[in-house]
Amino acid sequence: MDSILVKGSGPLNGQIPIAGAKNACLTLMPATLLSEEPLTLTNAPRLSDIKTMTELLQSLGAEVSSLQDGQVQALSSHNIDNHVADYDIVRKMRASNLVLGPLLARLGQAVVSLPGGCAIGARPMDLHLHGLEALGAEIELKDGYLHAKAPRGLKGAVMELSFASVGATENIMMAATLAKGTTVIKNAAREPEIVDLADCLTKMGAHIEGAGTSAITIEGVDRLHGATHPVVTDRIELGTYMLAPAIAGGEVELLGGRLDLIGAFVEKLDEAGVEVTETEAGLRVKRRGDRIKAVDVTTEPFPGFPTDLQAQMMALMCTAQGTSVLDEKIFENRFMHAPELIRMGAQIEVHGGHATVTGVDRLKGAPVMATDLRASVSLILAGLAAEGETLVNRVYHLDRGYEQVVRKFSGVGAQIERIKGG
Ligand code: EPZ
Repeated sequence: MDSILVKGSGPLNGQIPIAGAKNACLTLMPATLLSEEPLTLTNAPRLSDIKTMTELLQSLGAEVSSLQDGQVQALSSHNIDNHVADYDIVRKMRASNLVLGPLLARLGQAVVSLPGGCAIGARPMDLHLHGLEALGAEIELKDGYLHAKAPRGLKGAVMELSFASVGATENIMMAATLAKGTTVIKNAAREPEIVDLADCLTKMGAHIEGAGTSAITIEGVDRLHGATHPVVTDRIELGTYMLAPAIAGGEVELLGGRLDLIGAFVEKLDEAGVEVTETEAGLRVKRRGDRIKAVDVTTEPFPGFPTDLQAQMMALMCTAQGTSVLDEKIFENRFMHAPELIRMGAQIEVHGGHATVTGVDRLKGAPVMATDLRASVSLILAGLAAEGETLVNRVYHLDRGYEQVVRKFSGVGAQIERIKGG
């Protein structure tokens, strides 16, 4: 397994290009199953999760080719000859469960392995299933697989999610595009990736209103046609790299960065003493003074502070002036980066969903273990500001969500290299 060696780097300066959003692409790709005509996605990120989704769609009979060095995904689901999403693919990536709604809508049946838990939590699918059952699907669990069928087709319905689940909103919205009649999803997730999916489905001929608000209305149509759609900018990659000059000093411009994607995060950065300015090409970020101030953070569904930036923000708080409390409200076990940061000299106390961080003047480099995608990049950020060397192990987690991470960090002067593992 490869590792990444980071040395305490001085102030960072330069530009970092931001890629298309992993979490948008992972729901846009299954949308191809809804139409017999080709779907082309541009600005696709080059990530291992995208390769996994490609494998899954190909196993169902879709044709997927990635062009222009992976930045374009050409997908065609002219004939789907398999409706079973196997455990060995689904267990690698939870987002595989996003083929459930499209397969049900297209074929009237689907067999999808339950993804199982992951490092950050149990990740159940009850909200997905209740929503699809409200559309008329019959779903039962057998041998770890969800067996779903809609013998009489799907029928529009009015429903309310007990939690604004991103994946459930996506699965239900995709299925509802081909249901008979009108579907209303109340307490729907409002993430930019939901808006991006709705934009793409609308280009394919779907009738969707209200994406980005808590009430989404979908008028079912008989069929969807092909389309070409650019994947929206990755707000989590953006927020992650914005923290590099915040933690290490200097001034960095994030190419393609958009304020509207990360409002609550930028407000917190401002409170902590980080200046964010809109430029022609994106967002420019630098620290106001030479010490960051501790701020409290509570993760919430969009437009609140994103849970996917909590680990990275904790790294920044480890060297802030004062004490900050991070309250993780979305996942039940998303502080696994804390013990690793403590190995670097951070002062963190975790009690259930709360972490209290007392800032120290300087972290000390150490060998640390990446446990999940966002935890791994928070350790790199900490390493940038630490004295000495930090060796981050198990960086396969990183490759899932951050393309060319060493190149992007070193491009602004970070001392970072990838070490090939055994
Ligand atoms: C999406 O996961 C993202 N993944 C996650 O990003 C992100 O953290 C999450 O949304 C929240 O923003 C993709 O888009 C591929 P949820 P998803 O359904 O859809 C509970 C990353 O790092 N829940 O909004 O799975 C669930 O257990 C990843 O890129 C149920 O209880 O998130 C969790 O506690 C990590 N029942 C909470 O809701 C359900 O049926 C949020 O889940 C569904 C979810």
